[in-house]
Amino acid sequence: MDYQQLYEHLSSYGQEHLLDFWPRLDEQSRQRLTQQLSSINWEMMHECIKNYIQEPPITELPPDLQPAPSFPSEPEDEEQEAFYEAAEEEGCDLIADGKVAGFTVAGGQGTRLGHNAPKGTLPISPVRNKSLFQLFAEGVVRTQEKYCTEIPWYIMTSPANDEPTRLFFQENDYFGLDPDNVMFLTQGMLPAISLDGKLLLSAPDSLALSPDGHGGCLKALKESGALADMGQRGIEHISYWQVDNPLVHMFDPLFIGLHARMEAEMSCRGLIKNDPLEKLGNFCLIDDRVTVIEYSDMPEDLARMTDESGELVFRVGSPAIHLFQLSFVEKLTGDNELTLPFHRAVKKVPYLDDRGRLIEPNEPNAVKLETFIFDALPLAEEVVILEVDRQEQFAPVKQKTGTDSIESCHRLMNERAARWLEEAGVPVPRKQDGSVNCTIELSPRDFVDPEDVRDNVSKIKPPQPEEENYISLEN
Ligand code: UTP
Repeated sequence: MDYQQLYEHLSSYGQEHLLDFWPRLDEQSRQRLTQQLSSINWEMMHECIKNYIQEPPITELPPDLQPAPSFPSEPEDEEQEAFYEAAEEEGCDLIADGKVAGFTVAGGQGTRLGHNAPKGTLPISPVRNKSLFQLFAEGVVRTQEKYCTEIPWYIMTSPANDEPTRLFFQENDYFGLDPDNVMFLTQGMLPAISLDGKLLLSAPDSLALSPDGHGGCLKALKESGALADMGQRGIEHISYWQVDNPLVHMFDPLFIGLHARMEAEMSCRGLIKNDPLEKLGNFCLIDDRVTVIEYSDMPEDLARMTDESGELVFRVGSPAIHLFQLSFVEKLTGDNELTLPFHRAVKKVPYLDDRGRLIEPNEPNAVKLETFIFDALPLAEEVVILEVDRQEQFAPVKQKTGTDSIESCHRLMNERAARWLEEAGVPVPRKQDGSVNCTIELSPRDFVDPEDVRDNVSKIKPPQPEEENYISLEN
């Protein structure tokens, strides 16, 4: 497209201001801007501006909203126990047979945390300060060893953090993984839109762009060739986790086995909410389809509603741990027409004013649109939700201090390590109030689950009070 064509095209959508700085751009910058502008589906963008900016959508909930059924974390009777045992065995077989891939979404901007590098590089383990990526990588190494198999690991980045992420793995020799089994894929970006419906520029030759949400991972899997790669490797299921939860069991045989046995297209771990208004998406049923209703869209009376036994009706929330059947993702992305709904977030987005000055707003000034992975749930014919013990698998790092912070994550990692040791018979020093009286880090290179601790108990030196105790099979 030449300038005139671009100008006319943009004018028809009221966005010609994006070419305001064209006369002062060199050829390379013109190409860059033209490329960005031509890659936008303007008809869809126009609809988005109408539907998400000018008249923000109201989430209408059906009057008969129901909670989605879930499997308890522990079997509740003998029959269920036998079913869980068989499922777990099947999960182990699937991992050992190389049918399960790992998939980490790590393309977010991590604005709340304010770590000046990809979130996965954040040092997080309580003694050795291992990064999130290192903990996962070592866990993958251990899982491969445990099941005598190879596990490909796919990591979604965004154009903004792709390069430093790859570099981090290269500089650290992939933390012991075979680089051929670690693949990076980059998600799409979407332009930020001012509250009066204009796309913003971050530079004279660039739109203000941000990642298109974790829901963008389905398209990214397809477009990057990762899905095809999985197909060639004989993968059947994708284990999905977020980069900011170091406690996740990446390859959980029971979860994988239940998902496979139930022929679920998508499965989720479910957390019992610790407060009716806890900021977790709620697993609900709408028209018999599992649907996550965000906490912000859940009316308070529904969130607080209890049943005859006094339990919350909508008691299960989403910690964003999922499994996908590969064929489900192939089906969703097959015709390149997958459209997940957008969610809007009003944020502070730096932008160029009409004189070309970069403005850092003090107040939210723009809408970022994102798609969310849980919106794929209603598209799945069969969904399994398996409840999970929160202490065991959920320690998100979202901010520097307070809830879901580095500090709370350290505490949760420490407590889980202490529990795994005690359950295996290793004494752990505790204070009078019951809290752990030392710092413990279990290396995921050697311990990915409580079984690994039990199997090696004779080699483990009990943690010392008030000390930092790093426990691996090397020391
Ligand atoms: P969050 O919604 O917590 O966002 O992402 P964030 O970007 O990490 O942090 P804030 O909101 O800017 O503070 C949850 C998970 O989804 C991934 C993140 O990397 C994290 O693992 N994510 C999020 C993506 O991969 N891409 C996105 O576009 C958004």
